[in-house]
This record gives sequence, structure tokens and C-alpha cells, in this order.
Amino acid sequence: MAELGVNIDHIATLRQARQGREPDPVYAAAIAEQYGADQITIHLREDRRHIQLRDLKILRKTVQTRLNLEMAALPEMVKIARRIKPDTVTLVPERREELTTEGGLDLRTEHRGIIKELQAAGIEVSVFIEPEPGIIKKAKDLHADAVEIHTGRYANAGRKLEKTREIERIKKAAQLIKSLGMRVVAGHGLNYHNITALVELGIIEEYNIGHSIVSRAVFTGLPEAVLTMKELVL
Ligand code: PXP
Repeated sequence: MAELGVNIDHIATLRQARQGREPDPVYAAAIAEQYGADQITIHLREDRRHIQLRDLKILRKTVQTRLNLEMAALPEMVKIARRIKPDTVTLVPERREELTTEGGLDLRTEHRGIIKELQAAGIEVSVFIEPEPGIIKKAKDLHADAVEIHTGRYANAGRKLEKTREIERIKKAAQLIKSLGMRVVAGHGLNYHNITALVELGIIEEYNIGHSIVSRAVFTGLPEAVLTMKELVL
């Protein structure tokens, strides 16, 4: 049985379009939890284009499940995380000009200190990486607690053959992550159509999904959008 992390960044994107108060991601988080989210995921970006520090602070007080903070591996962000203490920090790459997180993190030896510092504050550390054996082994070497597999290539795969190849790559990566004793997470570009093939692998423990849930919520409401995805990942 897998768990669902609902990424609410795009609720904040809509709010920031008018720089106002609505829709409030704090309200969205409460509804997502009420309808089955096992975790609330937010990305506090360096340019603060959607989630604001205010959101992180309030969500830390109001989230009743778990709070997963996606962030760049930067000293400023480590300081914020150590102060606010989300349950999990997911280290992600970040480029100012990108529309969304485009690729997996290039894990380097410098990340060892950051992971250690976050863990010392009682925070679980996950790393968002491509499903490549070498990078997964590096994550283990750096003592990451969990690995989030970047599923973007699978989500964007056009032809059936390409999709099948990507599913196989994700399966092998998930098996390796598990065998190394780390938690297996997946995310990026997952939607109501492409999630099932991954769930059928029966090895991924948690999914973080944002864009497709918020997009569907525009038409059906957030309760239905969360509930339907929750049923698919179960
Ligand atoms: N997981 C990580 C680490 C991400 O950076 C993102 C995008 O913010 C997601 C999951 C969610 O991706 P999507 O919005 O495409 O569902």
C-alpha cells in the first residue's frame, strides 16, 4: 500500500497571480488531508514564485499528517529547514529560469554535510534523483534516508516502447533503493492515467503529485481530485 503526498504549490501559484490571499494553500492542505492525503508537499523556491515562508510556517503548525519540504541544497534553505523542522526535506535541483524541476539532483560529496545537518535537527532527508544505479548508490553513500525517483522521463515518454523501457528503469531503481535500506518515493509528471503502471510494480512506498491533482480540482473540486488519486495509489 502506497502513500500519497499532495503537492499544493500550484494553489499558491494561483494566489501569487494576484499577490493576494486566495486561494490559500493552508486551506488546500487541510482539505487534501481530510480527503486522504498522507502528506503535504511544498517547494519553497529561492525566487518564492509560489510557496512563501509564511505558508511554510503556518503549515508546520497546521498539517496533521506529514510535511515534506522540497528545497535546493543551499545554506539559506538549510537554515530555514532547521528552524521550522518539516518532517522530511527533499533535496531538489533548482534553476531560476526553469518552469518546474527539470531533472534529478546531481549528488555530490558536498551534499553529505547538508544531509547530516538536516538529520541532526531530526529531519528525514530524501533526495530527488534520476533512476540511475550510480546515483542511487551515491545517495546511500551520503546517508540519505529516502530516494525520490524522478518520473519525468516516464511521464513524457511518447511511444509505448519508450514507456515500457522507462517503467523497467524505475522498477530496477526502486528495487536497488529498497535493497540498500532507503525508502522508495516517486514523483513528477504523474497523473490519473500514468500512475497505475507504477502502482502495479508494488514497490514504490510514496508518491508526490501536484500538477495533475490541482488541474483536476479546477473542474471537480479538490476533495474529488484527492480522493480519486488516493484510490489509484492504494
Ligand atoms: N516531487 C518533486 C521532488 C517535485 O519537485 C515535484 C514538482 O514540484 C513533484 C514531485 C510534483 O510534480 P508534479 O507537479 O508534476 O506532480
